[in-house]
Amino acid sequence: MLPIRDRGFAHPIASEITPHDAFREGRRRLLASAAALALPAHAAAAGPGKRTPLAATRSNVAGAVVMDRPTSYADITGYNNFYEFGTDKGDPARHAAALRTRPWTVTVEGEVRRGATFDLDRLLALAPMEERIYRLRCVEGWSMVIPWIGYSLAELVRRVEPTGNARYVQFVTLADGAQMPGLRSSVLDWPYVEGLRLDEAMHPLALLAFGLYGEVLPNQNGAPLRLVVPWKYGFKSTKSIVRIRFVERQPPTSWSRAAPQEYGFYANVNPQVDHPRWSQADERRIGEDGLFARRRPTLMFNGYAAQVASLYAGMDLRRAF
Ligand code: MTE
Repeated sequence: MLPIRDRGFAHPIASEITPHDAFREGRRRLLASAAALALPAHAAAAGPGKRTPLAATRSNVAGAVVMDRPTSYADITGYNNFYEFGTDKGDPARHAAALRTRPWTVTVEGEVRRGATFDLDRLLALAPMEERIYRLRCVEGWSMVIPWIGYSLAELVRRVEPTGNARYVQFVTLADGAQMPGLRSSVLDWPYVEGLRLDEAMHPLALLAFGLYGEVLPNQNGAPLRLVVPWKYGFKSTKSIVRIRFVERQPPTSWSRAAPQEYGFYANVNPQVDHPRWSQADERRIGEDGLFARRRPTLMFNGYAAQVASLYAGMDLRRAF
């Protein structure tokens, strides 16, 4: 999604499909043994290449579990956008292993009564972990279905008690040139920043994710914690968050700073509003590649309209793109 020059789509990596039944069975066992698996918080620290289980129970938030077949683990962890590690889809898997995710803190500040610096262990214990199976639609025209683990961002927002002045929330990614070779490129302003309106951030589907496929997040997917906003294009889902700021005015975001005509603040998935350089009417589901693979129609709000459309009542979504 480089601004200015269209790179075209990167070639998809070979898919290693996780048989659906195997995943369902694995998930059933995982959920059944959630209590047995309740790990001490420190066990959730994944070292390079290590895969660590993360227990969760099934979410009962409306819309939190879509019925689409989940994308394979290999594709979810091998085909990524994480520009701090390079702009090629394979770069994050190649370079993010060295990211140190312990110790890790997240500073919550600005228009809040109880601002604080939270240690990762405190965040892991803040609310029960739930499994959510979300569609993720990238503005580049591809999509995946990802079984995340985490809890609603609202759990954290409520605990820090936003003041009456807080209208927006800004999310800031780690920017450490020693660990992130992509920072040598000026393709974006670093650190990577994104934002939501406070009511969007409070919506129960907005997820603070710590894991996927029953395990602690792999680094390339935004370890140790990232945002997931399933009704918006993937670029809103900030990875490896270190700072959350509550503010009065709409905060700048990395993509709209780089190319304001192309990437707006709202970034709601909307098949009726095309990106200036490509259509948003349909999408390629990663893992369904092949000569006769059909493109899927893109759904309004990525299929979450029943849950989120009311947030935008009365807004012109062509202007507020
Ligand atoms: N977060 C950071 N810090 N840096 C990034 O480059 N890319 C975004 C988003 N979050 C990005 C980021 C984009 S464009 C997408 S599509 C999703 O992450 C991809 O998430 P995934 O690799 O877990 O599928």
